[in-house]
Amino acid sequence: MKLFSKRNLLLLSALSVGWTVAQTSLPATPPQVAAPAETLNDPIFPGLGQAGLDVRHYDLSLTVERPGTPEFYGSVTLTLASTRPLGEIRLDFLGPTVNAVRWNGMGVPFRTDAALQKLIATLPAPLVPGQEARLTVVYGGRPGVVLDPGFSTPLQLGWQSVPAADGRAGANFTLSEPNGTHTFLPSNDHPSDKASFTTRVTVPEGFTAAASGVEGPVTTGSGTRTFTFTQTRPIPTYALGIHVNRFDRVTAPAVPVGVNGSPVARRDYFPVGTPGNVRAVYDRTERALRVLSEWFGPYPFAAYGVALVTPRLPALETATLSTIPPNLATERTAVHELAHQWFGNDLSPATWADVWLSEGFATYAELLWAEALGENGQAVAARWYDGQVRGGTRPLVATREAQLFDRSAYQRGALALHALRAAVGDDAFRAFLRAHVARFSGGTLGTADFLAFSRTQTGERGEAALRMWVESPTLPALPVMAGR
Ligand code: TRP
Ligand code: ZN
Repeated sequence: MKLFSKRNLLLLSALSVGWTVAQTSLPATPPQVAAPAETLNDPIFPGLGQAGLDVRHYDLSLTVERPGTPEFYGSVTLTLASTRPLGEIRLDFLGPTVNAVRWNGMGVPFRTDAALQKLIATLPAPLVPGQEARLTVVYGGRPGVVLDPGFSTPLQLGWQSVPAADGRAGANFTLSEPNGTHTFLPSNDHPSDKASFTTRVTVPEGFTAAASGVEGPVTTGSGTRTFTFTQTRPIPTYALGIHVNRFDRVTAPAVPVGVNGSPVARRDYFPVGTPGNVRAVYDRTERALRVLSEWFGPYPFAAYGVALVTPRLPALETATLSTIPPNLATERTAVHELAHQWFGNDLSPATWADVWLSEGFATYAELLWAEALGENGQAVAARWYDGQVRGGTRPLVATREAQLFDRSAYQRGALALHALRAAVGDDAFRAFLRAHVARFSGGTLGTADFLAFSRTQTGERGEAALRMWVESPTLPALPVMAGR
């Protein structure tokens, strides 16, 4: 796992509702409103999300007046739809003070509930399927605190503040997986509700903002600059990356590995003062994009690069702009986070129990990269196997929060893919990876979807190899590729 290096850190999908023709054809009957407290019932985080809510787009404007302090203010307008009538909107939120909530431009009553971590707005009339609406939240102050207990040092998720020190500028950034985004953004904070994003960040002159997506024009105010980013392709909320720092923004030639050979823009953000040897880790990003897109198919987004941060933290695959701390400025981590752009950001887990699908594929990419450099992939797999033998193992579907990012999610998850490859051979494995990406690109999938699809592509043999690694309470035998 791409975490505090050298330490053994153990560290629903569209709810189709029975909305019948009879109901829609009886306009006199008020729509039946779902029980207000219905969440998405995630097996790991049962409180997250609102059943029936579909956020299509977040249009976010933030102002950070003093980078490095936690405070910011701003507003967000969500474009919403629903798959069942909703009388109130219950967003995940544990953020700054809410000053106003507007529904299609009109003020509506709202309340926040810190225990539930919700912002609840009462609607003048229910939002019904087929409608689209805009919900605006105006807010500001200090973000909330959500801790990730899965890491050995409890990690504060969401909005991060790095005070200025030793001649270093103050900085802010997001680091939100799995449930930290709602510390700074009122949201349907669950990967089954992916959305597009427009992110506008206003910072003092001399500072640079970066965020997931493609950068638009920079505008200047009195002593401020406003940066705008458009993330057109839907991503899960946790994958939204935002950074404020004194940055060198370094561009490189676009790489033609997008859909139909379209160019993928390249830009990296290095905090001013980042040494050359650290920057050099990212010199081979173009090559990594080419190697991984050979295995996985076209790169899904319009841009890629990294934003480096200064505290020692885990690395995160924030969309189009991976967030990397200095302790993990290694090529292996770089490739892992790049692979997450396909697996995690473009193909997202249906529930948190399925997150091994993201981590297993991203970890397997490390082996594929090692092979591209002429190293022995089988030896990489054997080391992972050793880790499972010595550190313990578990079936891949997580049953509690502490398992989400444990060694089994990463390395047993990767070994499952290695088992498939060993069972069907390189050509069929590559064909499977590309078909799988094409099938689920832009959407979400669970473990059962993955196994069912593997059967259609690789037959009983492939599916059985995977299923044993997914389900067995014990450790299956080390898969060995023929002739290696
Ligand atoms: N997905 C990250 C990776 O493997 C790991 C991770 C999980 C993480 N939760 C996090 C990183 C929270 C930073 C913050 O690449
Ligand atoms: Zn990962």
